[in-house]
Amino acid sequence: MIEILTNTYQLWEPPLDGNPDRQVELDMGCGKGRFTLALAERYPERLILGSDVMIGRLRRLEAKVKRSGLSNVRLLRAESLTLAAFQLSPQSLDRLHLLCPDPWPKRRHRVRRLVCTDFLCRLPRILKPGGALHLSTDHELYFADWLELFDKMPHFHAAPEAMADIVDVKTDFELQWNAEGKIVQHLCFRLQ
Ligand SMILES: C[S@@+](CC[C@H](N)C(=O)[O-])C[C@H]1O[C@@H](n2cnc3c(N)ncnc32)[C@H](O)[C@@H]1O
Repeated sequence: MIEILTNTYQLWEPPLDGNPDRQVELDMGCGKGRFTLALAERYPERLILGSDVMIGRLRRLEAKVKRSGLSNVRLLRAESLTLAAFQLSPQSLDRLHLLCPDPWPKRRHRVRRLVCTDFLCRLPRILKPGGALHLSTDHELYFADWLELFDKMPHFHAAPEAMADIVDVKTDFELQWNAEGKIVQHLCFRLQ
């Protein structure tokens, strides 16, 4: 069930099982995969993808998927920017979730942040027209940067309604931050 895409130029096409209208969602940087599993349980007719670079986390998540009996999950070992840049087939996603990505708080590490103009400009390649991007973070400065960045991205417009169906579903990190008294803020946009 785990597709290894890291360090390959492979183009990966989500399996639609004969239904071209099948909705596809990606939990990018899925970690332990609580959100991936919850989404797959809620929407058994949809294909739910979870991607991460950490193969150990993916193997543990794969075991959880098997135990749950869910047949609509595929896991990708892939680097997020590379996945968006060329590994996922064009216009393959209805919704992309990027939840609690590493905030890289130290100034000298900021270049490692995934949410930047380069990444955002690659998303129209993999999102379907009208597709949604759902983000969250507990990091106030990263969140403030996102607001500034999206203000300058004419191809995305704010669409909080596009995450209304899953506001109750929390990731492992969101639960952890909440337990420490931290607030996790969410944003959602649609492609024009
Ligand atoms: C802070 S954790 C959040 C995990 C999960 N989304 C959650 O909220 O519980 C960030 C995850 O992103 C993965 N990750 C970090 N950089 C990545 C990259 N460049 N490509 C793919 N995955 C990455 C990490 O391995 C980790 O599982």
